Amino acid sequence: MIIFALKLKHFMSTHPKRYTITAALPYTNGPIHIGHLAGVYVPADIYARYKRLTGNDVAFICGSDEHGVPITIKAKKEGVTPQDIVDKYHAIIKKSFVDFGITFDNYSRTSAKIHHDTAQEFFKTLNDKGEFIEETTEQLYDEEANQFLADRFVTGTCPKCGNEEAYGDQCESCGSSLNATDLINPKSAITGNVPTLKETKHWFLPLDKHEDFLKEWILKGHKKDWKPNVYGQVKSWIDDGLRPRAVTRDLDWGIPVPAPGGEGKVLYVWFDAPIGYISATKEWAAQEGKDWEPYWKDQDTKLVHFIGKDNIVFHCIIFPSMLKAEGSYILPDNVPANEFLNLEGNKLSTSKNWAVWLPDYLEDFPNQQDVLRYALTANAPESKDNDFTWKDFQARNNNELVAIFGNFINRVVVLTNKYYEGVVPKASEFSDIDNEVLAAIKAYPAVIESSIERYRFREASQELMNLARLGNKYLADEEPWKLIKTDEVRTKTIMFVALQIASALATLSEPFLPFTSIKLKKILRIALNNNVISTEGGTTNEESQKWSDISTKDILISSGHQIGKGELLFSKIEDKTIDAQLEKLEASKKANEAANKVIEPQKDLITFEDFTKLDMRVGTILEAEKMPKTKKLLILKVDTGIDTRTIVSGIAESFSPEEVVGKQVTVLVNLAPRKLRGVDSEGMILMTETPEGKLVFVNPDTAVKNGLQIS
Ligand code: MF3
Ligand code: ZN
Repeated sequence: MIIFALKLKHFMSTHPKRYTITAALPYTNGPIHIGHLAGVYVPADIYARYKRLTGNDVAFICGSDEHGVPITIKAKKEGVTPQDIVDKYHAIIKKSFVDFGITFDNYSRTSAKIHHDTAQEFFKTLNDKGEFIEETTEQLYDEEANQFLADRFVTGTCPKCGNEEAYGDQCESCGSSLNATDLINPKSAITGNVPTLKETKHWFLPLDKHEDFLKEWILKGHKKDWKPNVYGQVKSWIDDGLRPRAVTRDLDWGIPVPAPGGEGKVLYVWFDAPIGYISATKEWAAQEGKDWEPYWKDQDTKLVHFIGKDNIVFHCIIFPSMLKAEGSYILPDNVPANEFLNLEGNKLSTSKNWAVWLPDYLEDFPNQQDVLRYALTANAPESKDNDFTWKDFQARNNNELVAIFGNFINRVVVLTNKYYEGVVPKASEFSDIDNEVLAAIKAYPAVIESSIERYRFREASQELMNLARLGNKYLADEEPWKLIKTDEVRTKTIMFVALQIASALATLSEPFLPFTSIKLKKILRIALNNNVISTEGGTTNEESQKWSDISTKDILISSGHQIGKGELLFSKIEDKTIDAQLEKLEASKKANEAANKVIEPQKDLITFEDFTKLDMRVGTILEAEKMPKTKKLLILKVDTGIDTRTIVSGIAESFSPEEVVGKQVTVLVNLAPRKLRGVDSEGMILMTETPEGKLVFVNPDTAVKNGLQIS
């Protein structure tokens, strides 16, 4: 590893640079879940923290994406205004980011005035430069809703891959960006109607005009170092040929089109949202008394967009074409897009409530943000879709954070307190092993750095864990707890070396485990970044430890330095905690299925005579037992007032036999008998379902005589 590290020397950033790091603006139509965190925000935060730690000038930018059709659909569904929806979720999302230690320099929102102004100004500049085509074309229209159908207001079959649920602007199955009129068999998402065509004027960005530039910049340029998934997607779009794309919409929620003829129209959400990166930078710079322009216009600035894979076309083709057309902006240096994270084998889904929501996680695992950050990083969907399982989460915590990282720190801190009252001992002569370990510590920054520079955060997180592993192995091999009885001098040297590893971990863990890093620095009483803590009588290293110190300094924590008392960094997660999460998921899925159950349209009319053919009576369940070897069936004895008969009913998943005995129910008594699993069933019990998916009886609301007819 040492040789490897030497080869990687050139990665060590010697010249501080300016970085504009953006993370995709989340849609403000729901809270965020682990998929968002794993795909975009945790890797972006690791990168931003690491860049700051290594002395660079960083603007880490994000905000809420508050326009777009999903928000208006959600508002309609809940009977509130779109502004109500975005206000609610902006606050929730913003808090989640703070809670999980995502260190945005600014988290803004696209409903902010500065954003409306910036986006309109951008549009005007392109319009004045003649960068748009203004054209009246026929667009999909819903006559009943009186509305044009763009983006998520329309679904249909994707012309590229045949997915029947593609949206008017994008197919989520193959990732293609679409025009609504491309859809085969389009259907209005508002009324379900087949749309008609109606003429309307829009502004189009002629992407075809930028094809040469994109080819030059991405294909021939140096973008081969982009992740293969990103480069591959972009190349195939460019190879397919690009077409003009409308950047305005006939909607009332969004940023008004600032041009004659633009009345009643707004900017397409994917036109305004990426400009949000710029407006959020402006807002931040104004607050900080800085100039925003170098962050977007200085060729020496490195612009990096962290996104999910469904955003690739927008960040690699459309936004760069906009920036290029405007003329004064830099282009992204890299667009590290992740693939998707699944949850327990199924696609994460907001609408199906198949997710682990961040506010819920924190409630169930208070102060355990780093565990989730680590589990998501160690298992990040970097090169292919990946699955989050609660079992893996538990294993990452118990087997790595607790057993390796936590265990090592705990041993070092406890022994230092026990043997030396918390004072770092003096080292004497180093053995070969000591020297190897000390050299290995110095090599770690470069190793981790090389992974981060290539956007391989899972690899980087494993290298960090390897340093803790090295510490554990060192202690296990050297056994200071045995040696203390025979060789105090040697024990001191061992503990000194172990403390150097602990100290290196405190700093190198910061991008990955920021909360743990602070805790550890407090335990070791080494200064926090920008914030020297008081040390209650102990001495302290006044200056905070820098990332580069780990590789350049021979001593990270000096003899004589007083450390604090131990505190567990991580604690074991028990099986029952994990089982509870699995049950919670299952329950929310069931509830959601029931809530989303389509209300069937009314059946064909029947006559009164048809109705009188049904003989429904009030009856009482006298006995109940489970049908052997089935999950769903109960064998019931029912007093129908006419007779006592056997009815087999599929309710065993909602009721135990004991629960139903004595219940008065509605029985269809003249249903032709049927044999179910060898048992004759004579009739049917009428049931319906609660929103949670539990079956319930349809019964009289007062006790009545068995055998009474229902009519
Ligand atoms: N809101 C979009 C999504 O969640 C991402 C917008 S990124 C930006 O998919 F560049 F437009 F800001
Ligand atoms: Zn498709």
